[in-house]
Amino acid sequence: MPGEDGYFDERVAARYDETSAEMFEPALIEATVDVLAELAGDGRALEFGIGTGRIALPLAQRGVPVHGIELSKAMAAKLREKPRAAEIGVTIGDFATTRVDGTYTVAYLVWNTLMNLTTQEAQVACFANAAAHLGPGGCFVVEVMIPELQRLPAGERFRVFRVSEHRWGFDEYDVANQGLISHHYAAVDDRLEQLSIPFRYAWPAELDLMAQLAGMRLRNRWSDWNREPFTSESAKHVSVWEKAASPADAP
Ligand SMILES: C[S@@+](CC[C@H](N)C(=O)[O-])C[C@H]1O[C@@H](n2cnc3c(N)ncnc32)[C@H](O)[C@@H]1O
Repeated sequence: MPGEDGYFDERVAARYDETSAEMFEPALIEATVDVLAELAGDGRALEFGIGTGRIALPLAQRGVPVHGIELSKAMAAKLREKPRAAEIGVTIGDFATTRVDGTYTVAYLVWNTLMNLTTQEAQVACFANAAAHLGPGGCFVVEVMIPELQRLPAGERFRVFRVSEHRWGFDEYDVANQGLISHHYAAVDDRLEQLSIPFRYAWPAELDLMAQLAGMRLRNRWSDWNREPFTSESAKHVSVWEKAASPADAP
């Protein structure tokens, strides 16, 4: 069972940037920050699950004030070690329920982190919490995978997502409960390290309903940060929901 840092404890935090190298590719970071900086405009950005600052630091370097909510003290400590981290405020807490001061023009939750909330109730609360931090017309942005159900034969539960020299991973689906467990294995210094993280997946339409319950409407849905169209073949979506400008305009 995870401790107070959740699944991103000191052991995971110590190697997070190194083991996530492909997510630190400059082109990906730049495209992500382009979208978020445009939505932030002259306002402030709030990151749910800020981690080690992969997106928050470059966004702050673009001149956008950023605050983060993060469960793991170990991940936040890694962020603190980085140059210019002092510009970013971090509140330790659960992003489904933790409130911070201020109003934001954009709140964002990237790289499948919504799925770390393993109940529908917690995901609904997360959308409500994002909306509560936004001013009128503010946006909530979520980047999350499309579950690989098209590739899962009836009765099958496992999908391999990584096979490389030192690292292997597969997802274990529980279709009836919209659950999946990602199993990660890594050869580290002649040892085999193992980490299994539970997730809850949701179809985009379910997320639209969560947004609607929170007083937000879908503004954009892309298949990536380069704003390519979302299609039946898309492996993930980047969705932007906008908070109503006034209660009378709420969905
Ligand atoms: C996959 S990492 C992403 C980190 C960062 N956003 C990035 O893109 O590199 C997920 C992060 O969300 C945090 N997290 C997971 N569930 C959380 C929750 N309920 N509340 C706050 N943080 C959470 C984890 O501790 C971890 O730092």
